[in-house]
Amino acid sequence: MNPLLSANRTHTCGELRRAQVGQQVVLKGWVKSRRDHGGCVFVDLRDRYGFTQVVLDYAKMDAHKDALDALRDEYVVAVSGTVVDRGQNVKAELATGEIEVYADNVVILATAQPLPVQIADETTTNEVTRLKYRYLDLRRQPLQKIMIMRHQVNQIVRRYLDEHGFLEIETPILTKSTPEGARDYLVPSRVHGGKFYALPQSPQLFKQILMVAGYDRYFQIVRCFRDEDLRNDRQPEFTQIDCELSFPTEELIFDIFEGMVARIWREISRIEIPRPMPRLSYQEAVEHYGIDRPDTRYGLLLQRLTDLVAGCGFKVFAQAAAEGKTVKAFAVDDPEQKLSRSFIEKNLDPAVKVYGAKGLAWVRVAPEGWQGSIAKFFEPALAKKIEARVGAKTNSVIFFVADQEKIVNDSLAALRRKVADLMGLVDPNKLNFLWVYDFPMFEWSAEDKRWMAMHHPFTSPRLEDLDKLESDPGAVLARAYDMVLNGNEIGGGSIRINRSDVQERVFRALGIGEEEARLKFGFLLDALKFGAPPHGGIAFGMDRTIMLLAGTDSIRDVIAFPKTTQGNCLMTEAPSAVEDAQLKELSIALREGVKPE
Ligand code: AMO
Ligand code: AMP
Repeated sequence: MNPLLSANRTHTCGELRRAQVGQQVVLKGWVKSRRDHGGCVFVDLRDRYGFTQVVLDYAKMDAHKDALDALRDEYVVAVSGTVVDRGQNVKAELATGEIEVYADNVVILATAQPLPVQIADETTTNEVTRLKYRYLDLRRQPLQKIMIMRHQVNQIVRRYLDEHGFLEIETPILTKSTPEGARDYLVPSRVHGGKFYALPQSPQLFKQILMVAGYDRYFQIVRCFRDEDLRNDRQPEFTQIDCELSFPTEELIFDIFEGMVARIWREISRIEIPRPMPRLSYQEAVEHYGIDRPDTRYGLLLQRLTDLVAGCGFKVFAQAAAEGKTVKAFAVDDPEQKLSRSFIEKNLDPAVKVYGAKGLAWVRVAPEGWQGSIAKFFEPALAKKIEARVGAKTNSVIFFVADQEKIVNDSLAALRRKVADLMGLVDPNKLNFLWVYDFPMFEWSAEDKRWMAMHHPFTSPRLEDLDKLESDPGAVLARAYDMVLNGNEIGGGSIRINRSDVQERVFRALGIGEEEARLKFGFLLDALKFGAPPHGGIAFGMDRTIMLLAGTDSIRDVIAFPKTTQGNCLMTEAPSAVEDAQLKELSIALREGVKPE
């Protein structure tokens, strides 16, 4: 038997330097590339630590000729040999570039078929194939770097929260539904036929109950499950850094979690985040950015023009103003005239129409006055007032939308992002963190014709707004806050309700009757009656945070085994049909017509 089969590695493939020259070593790893140079085989041997060049000389390895002949890419091998200085041929850009290993023995530990995935930093393999063979995709260095970064963030977070007195406590995965605004994943109970567990959308109620239990500070790096429409920054299961503390003020929470985030960026990226982070009320954010997670790396602030355009010559605006609708606009510098009429009509008009806007009005501010199809409707005096309000100069283009408030905000927020990208206004090296606070407690759902909780129903209204809970729910502000980074919501939380009477009133405002409240949340209402301390917390989206740290725009890049936007795991082929017997045991019959393919 080849003695290498029972030898341990002496080093990893990323470890050897000049200091080890002359040493006899054993390396194990994957054949990254095999190059034949007449009588000599050069192999880059790879593991997650790096790769090392190994020279296998037929002349000196007669006994291993068969193995040498057989070696192919991605075979797993063990080699032993001597570390040699590369002399003139040093590759300074490689960590192990000073040395190579002259092999005296090699053994194949595993063979590999030709790979369906190209193992390269910039792979040409399509994502469907890469997700099916995720273990091959995960061999690529960019993904390995992200997985290692994710591990490091986990450790930094654990250390930081431990230093601040937070206890890591696990909460159930098989539980009861907690409303976080998405659909639940249900798990049928075999023992209790017809009954279901729900997978948690977050551990919200458990962490609150831990505060009632006196644990004071809790955290968990925890999987959450939400059956919602997936996007590039949303997965059906994702990870939160979930935290709760007793006797907090907003200031204390901001301070502790700014500290945590600052520590992550300091240790991972060597970047010092300025603190305290800026703050923006929900009202200000929506007024000037059209969205509650503004990207503040660039200007293009939205300005309300409804008062100025009331009664103006452009019917669309005058009518909107008369009907109590909203007109807003923003200006962008365009000295090179990139934003031509045809460009706007082709690329920008559709971008606002998907949000329900009926059109996108625009003018160019030329030295001789406004240009564009609607320019003629604006008296010079009014034009000047509008320019002043939106901060337009000569060579600016001004974009306007008139509609219901929400449509105006949604469409201009999207347009603002798009225009900033187009005009190269987004500095990718900037990190604009901020807190958004003073969210409304409720938002009206036109679809369901009822008030919905904007954060979740356990969020405390501001004390000064308590008496408006019944009379004017739309005016009640919540003690909720989000942490935003470059236009992404990376965390959100609130001070909670710690009185059962207030909790009952909030349920009522949400149209949750007494009976339903008891059925769904009786345990919480009970807990709030037994000495519930004031408490509050926050949860960060781990995946989104890693995305931003790693500078990738797909959440699938930061999850080892992600799902597609259709919720499929292409590797395991979940979800899948199950045996009839299994369904029967669970007292489940599929509805007529439902046939899993
Ligand atoms: P929230 O619902 O705001 O709050 O979630 C907290 C953070 O989790 C991330 N996130 C997601 N990431 C990936 N895929 C998803 N589908 C997804 N959904 C949310 C976001 C978000 O900021 N229980 C409350 C927290 C609290 O009040 O303490 C909660 O879950 O980055
Ligand atoms: P019209 O007079 O309807 O042809 O519209 C003139 C310009 O105003 C076109 O560029 C339309 O896209 C735009 N427009 C129409 N409705 C709106 C609206 N509600 N808000 C902003 N622009 C609009």
